[in-house]
Amino acid sequence: MTPELDVADPVFRADPYPTYSRLRKTLPVAAVQRKMVGKAWILTRYEDVVNALKDPRLANSRHHAVGGKNPSEQWWMPRLFRTFQKNMVASDAADHRRLRDLVHKAFTPRRVEELEGTVERIVNRLLDDAERKGSVELLSDFAAPLALTIISEMMGVPEEERPKFRRWTFKLMDSKLETPLDFIRRLPSANKMLRFFRALIRLRREHPSEDLLTALVQAEEQGDRLSEEELVSMVFLLLLAGHDTLVNLIGNGTLALLQNPDQLQKLRENPELIGSAVEELLRYTNPIEAPTPRFAREDIELHGQLIPRGSMVVPLMASANRDETVFENPDTLDITRHPNRHVAFGLGSHYCMGAPLARLEGKIALLTLVQRFPAMRLAVPEEQLRWRGLFGPRGLKSLPLHLV
Ligand code: HEM
Repeated sequence: MTPELDVADPVFRADPYPTYSRLRKTLPVAAVQRKMVGKAWILTRYEDVVNALKDPRLANSRHHAVGGKNPSEQWWMPRLFRTFQKNMVASDAADHRRLRDLVHKAFTPRRVEELEGTVERIVNRLLDDAERKGSVELLSDFAAPLALTIISEMMGVPEEERPKFRRWTFKLMDSKLETPLDFIRRLPSANKMLRFFRALIRLRREHPSEDLLTALVQAEEQGDRLSEEELVSMVFLLLLAGHDTLVNLIGNGTLALLQNPDQLQKLRENPELIGSAVEELLRYTNPIEAPTPRFAREDIELHGQLIPRGSMVVPLMASANRDETVFENPDTLDITRHPNRHVAFGLGSHYCMGAPLARLEGKIALLTLVQRFPAMRLAVPEEQLRWRGLFGPRGLKSLPLHLV
């Protein structure tokens, strides 16, 4: 047991890095007790995290690893949370490839490059509005509408439907999901979301269009490529992964730049550094700190510790990205860092499909923001900023700023 790893503790949420550093040195394979799923093994060293993400002895689906039920299939789990789990991140081998193949073409670097003009237009329109107001809550006034507009345009979600999807996402992802009660409290938002997905699917069945959602609906209609539950779960995954992660990148990234004024100044004076700045902000701020849990297909021994078959294993990317044996001065933000072998997008067969899109949006959003607003500053004392309580995604609850 590692008592300091209460993942919902606000002090830990505010700054998990000292704990990770201690674990890397003293307990690189640490057992923690997760209320809902029991014991999990946390890996904190870079080399172990990289190896685990590519290790064929670890599966993303417990059922696939050792048979039996996945954690989301416990008797008390509301049905719709089970549906949400039927996606590619929680699957392996042939099922994983089948689901990933259905959508990956929409996210290749070439396809994503075509969106550059659209992203620039939306960024500038949102920042025009923000400039008129003078002060903003960066996440809801800028980051979320930007990210949600782009992924919704790709998917084919009508404009008037988008804000409510964001509201439900925020309610679902705001605080810890550890106990049955945590899930039950989320039921109203989750139910509304499920109805929303079913309505979207109906809309595209009746009115096909040139978007990803129509392509997925048609794949489902063809029979064996996609079940109805998988279709709903795919829409959920793409809409969620396609926007909430970016909100974290833009929010965490802006805060990190404000906390490091020398780096912010360097970026303003050298806009060509934006590519390496975004890589460094990914490494330093970890918009996703842990991937989907893995499950051991067999007994695994690591650093003298036995991880029994069937155990849950969590390779912590946020800790790997601060490993002092790989990154010089890992707790320093250096927007010129080179090389930068961070693992913020994961690795192996589940490597983030949206990485080119995240990089494009992150670069344009952050550079335009810092260039347009040289007087940008926090609108509340830093101690008042709060981090969301869910373990996995790492992001602020809000980021109030004065822009002018
Ligand atoms: C800063 C932004 C982002 C970060 C840090 C991020 C991070 C990650 C990570 C760490 C994984 C691997 C999960 C695992 O191994 O269990 C992943 C998978 C995935 N990401 Fe992202 N992501 C980002 C943005 C996006 C965007 C914009 C999309 C667009 C839809 C997206 C779609 C996906 C999908 C579909 C997967 C599952 C891939 C698979 O299982 O094969 N992500 N992401």
